Amino acid sequence: MNRFRRLRSSDTLRSLVRETSVSSKDLIYPMFVIEGENIKQSIDSMPGIYRYSIDMIDEELKKVDESGISGILLFGVPKHKDEVGSEAYNPNGIVQKAIRYIKEKYPQMLVIADICLCEYTSHGHCGLVKGTEILNDETLPLLAKMALTCVQAGADMVAPSDMMDGDVEAIRNVLDENGYKNTPIMGYSAKYASAYYSPFRDAAGSCPGFGDRKSYQMDPANVKEGVREIENDIEMGADIVMVKPALAYLDVVRAVSEMFDYPIAVYNVSGEYSMVKAAALNGWIDERRIVTENLTAMKRAGAKIIITYHALDMAKWLKEVE
Ligand code: PBG
Ligand code: ZN
Repeated sequence: MNRFRRLRSSDTLRSLVRETSVSSKDLIYPMFVIEGENIKQSIDSMPGIYRYSIDMIDEELKKVDESGISGILLFGVPKHKDEVGSEAYNPNGIVQKAIRYIKEKYPQMLVIADICLCEYTSHGHCGLVKGTEILNDETLPLLAKMALTCVQAGADMVAPSDMMDGDVEAIRNVLDENGYKNTPIMGYSAKYASAYYSPFRDAAGSCPGFGDRKSYQMDPANVKEGVREIENDIEMGADIVMVKPALAYLDVVRAVSEMFDYPIAVYNVSGEYSMVKAAALNGWIDERRIVTENLTAMKRAGAKIIITYHALDMAKWLKEVE
């Protein structure tokens, strides 16, 4: 008989042979910054997450700063939206202003700018629209412009989430041409057309006004295509590649991590967060244990970096066990 239970008999032995662990250094916290003043708005579908105006954001930044997590991923919520998403690449747009403010006050904080048009377009799509078509090539220069303005404002990294073909290449070229050769790109490489994004779309006000995102985001049924997307983003210059969402796509994470020796990020998205929160608020699950189990599973599948709305809670729990 093999006695597997020998190594399970105490906390010390279990932690001695543990294969995977989550550290606060693995975590990135997404934040929503909204135009205006004196705003701290709760998001109904995401308990515990808020939209902050810049003058109110310190409360949250202090927590990030003290938590030991690695950084934040910033989303802007503008006042003005139009057909072409002008505010996305306005050097004085909400996200550019927020980056400038944060980097001035917390120079050591890693600030990643999400690059996409959907929060800024009146139709809510991630690219330019002609009729009912979402245009690919015409969108690329606008994404590149958004990335450049964010980096000029001080962003340490950019993360294109638009799922236009050629986005990473277009952004890499513009950054290189403007003297930002050393600014890394995290590609949302294998991003699926998922129902798990709906709370985020409340939070960021980015719900498509017509149709859906299936002509640019991936079919949830495909794993080989996800591998090709990742491979392509690496060839085009992505420094970090991402699989999104996380939990329902851990097989994709596993496949990709076995094939490519690149840092892999997962995005533990809004719907995944909200399901856990809702059950926890009802007292149906133990939030801390569920979150720890979920994040551990993401690491076990091969992710190095986890973008998660649970980041601050998890960092706090990790400190308690130390
Ligand atoms: C915008 C974007 C989305 C998310 C990150 N960037 C939404 C979408 O594609 O509809 C989803 C994040 C989440 O659900 O937490 N392109
Ligand atoms: Zn988008």
